[in-house]
Amino acid sequence: MKASLVQLVDIPQRGDSRGGLSVAELGGALPFPVRRVYWIYGTEPGVSRGFHAHKKLRQLCVCVAGSVRMSLFDGRHEENIVLDSSAKGLLIGPGLWREMHDFSPDCVLMVFADAEYDESDYIRNRTEFMDYAASR
Ligand code: TYD
Repeated sequence: MKASLVQLVDIPQRGDSRGGLSVAELGGALPFPVRRVYWIYGTEPGVSRGFHAHKKLRQLCVCVAGSVRMSLFDGRHEENIVLDSSAKGLLIGPGLWREMHDFSPDCVLMVFADAEYDESDYIRNRTEFMDYAASR
């Protein structure tokens, strides 16, 4: 049986009557030391993003507001998951083509990464990705 491409981790919730509070710490929700955090927000209606894979990078994606559909593809199988909760993080390892679709207008997607930005780690061409996936 093939392993699921969608790997979700539980993010501890420490909210109370005052409101929400979510915690992602090393050894908890985060399985790697974080070297970079970025967030995607204000995505224009109808816009999709991503369309790339990474050779080495590991990421944890948390939709801290709104919702977004994440599509993951390993060269053979595609899986989709809607992220709409700050209580769940989607782990995306290397060698996965990812696309982000159906952003809600209020979506804020927070991404924790284990390395600084490095364009040479990207595979942005789908045909190149198919060759890369086939050779793994
Ligand atoms: P890109 O990776 O294409 O975004 P997405 O996959 O979400 O559509 O990044 C958009 C631009 O921002 C591109 O010029 C690279 C730059 N960028 C950085 O400089 N640092 C970063 O950490 C990220 C994620 C992107």
